[in-house]
Amino acid sequence: MTATPDLSAVTLDQLPRDSGQRFDFAAIFGNTNPVELELGIGKGRFLIQQAEERPGVNFVGVEWANKYFVLVAERAAKRGLRNLRVMRADAGHVVRENVRDGAISVLHVYFPDPWPKLRHQKRRLIQAPFAREAARVLQDGGLVKLATDHVEYAVQMEQVFGADPDFEPVSRAVGEAAPVGVTNWEVKFRAEGRTIHKFEYRRRPRRGP
Ligand SMILES: C[S@@+](CC[C@H](N)C(=O)[O-])C[C@H]1O[C@@H](n2cnc3c(N)ncnc32)[C@H](O)[C@@H]1O
Repeated sequence: MTATPDLSAVTLDQLPRDSGQRFDFAAIFGNTNPVELELGIGKGRFLIQQAEERPGVNFVGVEWANKYFVLVAERAAKRGLRNLRVMRADAGHVVRENVRDGAISVLHVYFPDPWPKLRHQKRRLIQAPFAREAARVLQDGGLVKLATDHVEYAVQMEQVFGADPDFEPVSRAVGEAAPVGVTNWEVKFRAEGRTIHKFEYRRRPRRGP
């Protein structure tokens, strides 16, 4: 029988969700390295690979599905990763409630659930209020990186971030032109021949007082 690894070093559940508190990442990681946040990590392929390759950056992943959260936490714990934390929570809630202003250097959102039915579209993560919160949590010059295989959601992503005054477009690529990524869903979608849309937006510098 394999012993269950101690997950406390790689998880972030100690903060009460509705306390109004926000994470102190410097205290959590024990350093002031940049923090990148991935929302909807799935099986965590991207997050774990990045944490292994870039030890000078701290990574936080948010995932709603408990089985994926546990899977990624176990993988991270087995690898002894010290620059990665995952939490089981609603991504929108975490961004709104648990992240301090300017705390994030890069926000990664890859293949968020597209909620294709009209009556479900209000559940999509990428909407105007989310862009406002993304602008709040990103440091000046910080990036939002987005990917989807769903063309209508791609249009919505572009409309939402294109309309937000705090963001400027950095790159937009579709299909073969889109740089290859490593998330589990991207690998699967590319194998299926689906067209992938990718966007990057930069948070404009805040104006002085
Ligand atoms: C289509 S998968 C993409 C996973 C991963 N980003 C990838 O590219 O392989 C969407 C993921 O978002 C998670 N998810 C859906 N709604 C969420 C929410 N409100 N908060 C956090 N995660 C969510 C799902 O459980 C799933 O793991």
